[in-house]
Amino acid sequence: MKISIIGSGYVGLVTGACLAETGNEVILVDISEGRVGEINAGKCPIYEPGLQELLQKHIGSRLKATTNAQEAIFQSEIIFICVGTPQSKDGSTDMQYVISAAKSAGIAIRGRKDAPIIILKSTTPPTKIDEVVLAIENSSGKKDGEGFYFFTNPEFLREGSAVKDFQKPDRIVVGCSEGKSSEMLARLYSPFGSKMFFCSSKSAMMVKYASNSFLAAKISFANEIGNICKKLGIDSHEVANGMALDRRINRAFLDSGCGFGGSCLPKDTASLAFEAKMLGECSSMLSAVLEVNKNQPSKVIERLKTRLGSFSGKKIAVLGLAFKPGTDDIRESPGMEVAFLLHSQGAKVFAYDPKATENAKKHAPALNYCKSAKEAIEKSEAAVIMTDWKEFAEIDTEKYVLEGKRILKLKKPNYEGICW
Ligand code: UGA
Repeated sequence: MKISIIGSGYVGLVTGACLAETGNEVILVDISEGRVGEINAGKCPIYEPGLQELLQKHIGSRLKATTNAQEAIFQSEIIFICVGTPQSKDGSTDMQYVISAAKSAGIAIRGRKDAPIIILKSTTPPTKIDEVVLAIENSSGKKDGEGFYFFTNPEFLREGSAVKDFQKPDRIVVGCSEGKSSEMLARLYSPFGSKMFFCSSKSAMMVKYASNSFLAAKISFANEIGNICKKLGIDSHEVANGMALDRRINRAFLDSGCGFGGSCLPKDTASLAFEAKMLGECSSMLSAVLEVNKNQPSKVIERLKTRLGSFSGKKIAVLGLAFKPGTDDIRESPGMEVAFLLHSQGAKVFAYDPKATENAKKHAPALNYCKSAKEAIEKSEAAVIMTDWKEFAEIDTEKYVLEGKRILKLKKPNYEGICW
């Protein structure tokens, strides 16, 4: 099938590369000439396991990138909208990129005789979906269900395992209005062999918001229990393991620690809370999820202070700046937050991350960056582990180490966990 994808961020790039791998002809559309140039040169603009290999395999043949939206979209049977939906200052979802992509798609299909499929993958509040359809209708002069077919299809891939998640999803959720044929979508996704779930276009997006908020809630719940466990001298991970023996409780996302980060769980939970507020609905659970998470990095700071006293002039290693292992993404990263807090309270921070150092340097040039965990620990009197990168499991030191994420293999009296 001929596919164009508007937006070549995490979701767009991975979707494009994986759909090229299953034999489709894919054109990635992006406004950034730099990014388009990189992709066409076979260079992956983000770190994501397996993505570089897929890009190199298909670029120039089944996969291309362009800044020319009109040309790309005009040739496509399926058009994906995969642009960002960042959070505005007031907590609402910034829809400008989605609306602009919807207009581009509409303009590009104006002169077409056939009715292409337009799929909204960007995480979009259900209340805004009608605006997207209207933007396409107004710019194309065509009606949904006649001149084009509109679907929502939220994405559930995780950073750090995005390619694997796309190729082996738990479920593929497709939203459409009643009576629309989704046969082409079923064909597109058939190589991934996953269960497809069809529902209304608004329900599909709500599945995404509710899923991310639920995952965030599981983590914040685990962290609240973990904070209580810490005071009682109980190992919260042992408690989670015991809880998970009940089949109704799944062990996933019950790892307590320094809190969740990234561009999705915090944003989507906040966005849902904002939507609830606009609807006059009380969302005390969503607010509590966010509040517990906001406070979790300060638990790391409190614990370090109890051990080290004032931070003034203290040398402290911060190990892990990416919000999770397997990525160079530092958005909403607890590691960055703790590094900032320590630095602002007078500590000399020696930071290390296997992949995210370059991104971190741009945001926090005042920190001291090291080439390895060993170097950072050697230069410091204590260390804190903020990302559960596998290589940190091997850390072996007599210095005090606080785990914000549980990863250390050795159990030593000088090692301590934030919730265990
Ligand atoms: C999340 C969802 O898991 C994906 O399904 C979704 O597609 C994606 O958001 C999105 O909306 O695009 P992601 O943000 O990549 O994926 O990362 P997660 O694996 O969900 O981890 C998020 C954060 O939670 C990380 O900081 C991680 O360290 C933390 N976490 C995770 C915990 O603190 N404890 C846990 O038990 C699990």
